[in-house]
Amino acid sequence: MRKYHPFLVTLHWLMVLMIPLSLTAGGIILANLPNDNPAKVTFLGGHMGFGLTIGAVLIIRLITRIRSTHPARATTGNEFLDRISLWTHWGFYVLIAGMVLTGLATALSAGLLPIVFGGSGDPLPATFDGLPQLFLHGFRAVLLIALIVLHILAALYHQFILKDGLMGRMWYGKRD
Ligand code: HEM
Repeated sequence: MRKYHPFLVTLHWLMVLMIPLSLTAGGIILANLPNDNPAKVTFLGGHMGFGLTIGAVLIIRLITRIRSTHPARATTGNEFLDRISLWTHWGFYVLIAGMVLTGLATALSAGLLPIVFGGSGDPLPATFDGLPQLFLHGFRAVLLIALIVLHILAALYHQFILKDGLMGRMWYGKRD
């Protein structure tokens, strides 16, 4: 088996687009938009809806990963690097699931669901500052960015130093 299942390939590249968009929307746009700005509820709705969609894609991806055949685990020839690679891959599932759950916990504790999705018309809380759920959400975002950087560096190492054509496994084409 030389390549991943094409559906898994699609989900992988979809996540590559969705995760940085979410990190940017949350960390740069929302975090700097005061809660009394009239556009805030719309932006929150976009971020929360998008984040929940990422959660759904993650579950579909996990099921596809478990149920489809896939190439043998890539190796660098170095046991330590191979172990980091394994932890990185599972770390993605844990961190992304954690982002969705802490985001949801933030929304629930600030009473955002009826305001953002239910059209209750109630005002947003004056600020989200000090919510431990949001602190965890932001902290996980930093860990996720670190993991993404590590993942990209590993892919480049395989592609350009080891020259083992690893990137091709996560693309479409004949699988065996
Ligand atoms: C993988 C999915 C997600 C990513 C990458 C993401 C990313 C972020 C980031 C980077 C921030 C800024 C954190 C900070 O200021 O310290 C943020 C804020 C926030 N996120 Fe998410 N998020 C995701 C999913 C969700 C979900 C599912 C919800 C709720 C259903 C949610 C609700 C929020 C809320 C309420 C804020 C606070 C916005 C503000 O400060 O005004 N997020 N998110």
